[in-house]
Amino acid sequence: MFAVLVLAMGVGAFLVHGGRLPIAATTPPDLADRIAMTARFEAVRRQGSGVAVTLPSDPASLARGRDHYVENCLPCHGAPGVERAEFAEGMNPIAPDIDGALQGYSDGQLFWVIKNGIRATGMPGFGRNHTDEEIAAITAFVRHTAHLSPEERQALAAAPHPGHHQNAARPGEAEADHHH
Ligand code: HEC
Repeated sequence: MFAVLVLAMGVGAFLVHGGRLPIAATTPPDLADRIAMTARFEAVRRQGSGVAVTLPSDPASLARGRDHYVENCLPCHGAPGVERAEFAEGMNPIAPDIDGALQGYSDGQLFWVIKNGIRATGMPGFGRNHTDEEIAAITAFVRHTAHLSPEERQALAAAPHPGHHQNAARPGEAEADHHH
């Protein structure tokens, strides 16, 4: 038993202090990523399950949530009909589609994860500089992304935001300041 422990510590030191862990963002997903992903998913489910929040549904709150989303979330997560920014495509883990599996979270879980973030993934905690009311409005808009009208999609795609791909929709200015 003791020998196993010493061996495990030795292997750990060899990998960690020896600088041998695969830390490049370009590392293909492996077992460690799958374990970490499950751990994060279960942690959000548990730690967000006690959060009681009522999401606003009035147009003004939704519009505020949308503005925060465009400024703070769109570059990483994109939206239906809007690509992620270029830098976000190089992230590992990559930010999940906002209208996808994460819609399976309860309102409280979504609110919790937006407020607190997920450490060491790139997902910021917005509770540092946003009120609970603002976070509830953002959460309401996140829910709404699964039901965007064609007009709302177009407006999102046209909204200027950091790191925005110059989508083909703007002839003339398209490629001039856009380096690959
Ligand atoms: C710098 C990039 C970045 C920004 C900005 C960002 N996110 Fe994220 N977000 C991520 C990444 C990466 C993950 C995946 C974390 C993981 O794999 O556990 C994530 C995860 C999430 C999740 C949980 C998904 C899950 O399956 O657990 C939600 C919900 C979310 N983001 C919403 C938002 C909202 C809303 C905003 C804006 C207020 C935002 N994010 C801003 C990168 C970002």
